[in-house]
Amino acid sequence: MADRDIVQPTADPEERALEGALRPKTLGDFVGQERVREQLGLVLKAAQIRERTADHVLLSGPPGLGKTTLAMIVAQEMGAPLRITSGPAIQHSGDLAAILSSLVPGEILFLDEIHRMSRPAEEMLYMAMEDFRVDVIVGKGAGATSIPLELPPFTLVGATTRAGLLPGPLRDRFGFTGQLEFYSEAELELVLRRSALLIDLAVSGQGFSEIARRSRGTPRIANRLLRRVRDWALVHGVTNIEQSHAATALTMYEVDERGLDRLDRSVLLALIDKFGGGPVGLSTLAIAVGEETETVETVAEPYLVREGLLGRTPRGRVATPAAYAHVGRPLPEGHWSSTGGL
Ligand SMILES: Nc1ncnc2c1ncn2[C@@H]1O[C@H](COP(=O)(O)OP(=O)(O)O)[C@@H](O)[C@H]1O
Ligand SMILES: [Mg+2]
Repeated sequence: MADRDIVQPTADPEERALEGALRPKTLGDFVGQERVREQLGLVLKAAQIRERTADHVLLSGPPGLGKTTLAMIVAQEMGAPLRITSGPAIQHSGDLAAILSSLVPGEILFLDEIHRMSRPAEEMLYMAMEDFRVDVIVGKGAGATSIPLELPPFTLVGATTRAGLLPGPLRDRFGFTGQLEFYSEAELELVLRRSALLIDLAVSGQGFSEIARRSRGTPRIANRLLRRVRDWALVHGVTNIEQSHAATALTMYEVDERGLDRLDRSVLLALIDKFGGGPVGLSTLAIAVGEETETVETVAEPYLVREGLLGRTPRGRVATPAAYAHVGRPLPEGHWSSTGGL
């Protein structure tokens, strides 16, 4: 993974393998997300008492907050096998029919990135979720016939980063929807403590807070920063990681005390130094930092907006007073924030 990607919320295949070892296996082990955990726990308990498969579960939220982990926990808690697939892997409704008809009774089907499934597959899924039945079309043109196929009862666990993109009829077929939220620093510290124990790393309380503060509310990033701090400590012969070690290591990786990386900071600096704080169009801003528009929009912007450092207006992007303070620039006189807005 390139340095620049250190605060990316998504994981590449190599990192996913590393993550497997750190995934909590039970609801009790899963940190934070109190409401989702409690409600999901009830759904599963009730299903066990009724000796039925659990209602279909939809998990939504930004990358790295624990959707895949929860899907695996559902299977674990239900003592059921888990089948994993994803929206983009299902090109044709036939692909879905093949998966559905090969499930064993009670199996958990995890459909990641469910919003990226094709339309025909989506429609097949409606019926499968509701009636545990699909119609398989055999043949083509006038000779085509539809054969009804009974399915074993199963629980669908869908995950999406974009719940808003799911068609209403699909959303309605989930008995339970869990919306995952960004984690507090205290929760991230718990995630880090657990991971440090698993990888046998000694970190002080302040050391954990230092890493948590820079983790953008995201367990995946927290675990990644922990690994980078571990590398740094190994090379520097540090066996007990204190706050100053964590801070030095992460500063070296260009992750600042608020979790901003080099790209985030250059976006803010360009906005302030080159465009008087904005408003400026996104594509112009992207050119100024030498990046693709899409990179700025999907990688840097969401976190900057969430942190209240960048504003989106109809006329373009603007730097907030907090942005000036963060990059150490004085707020110019007559800045929009002091003159009653834009
Ligand atoms: N609540 C949590 N408690 C402990 N670790 C977590 C939690 N949520 C996520 N993680 C860790 O963060 C990493 C990413 O989680 P994952 O479930 O793959 O996120 P998502 O599927 O939402 O992108 C995993 O290594 C997992 O162990
Ligand atoms: Mg996932």
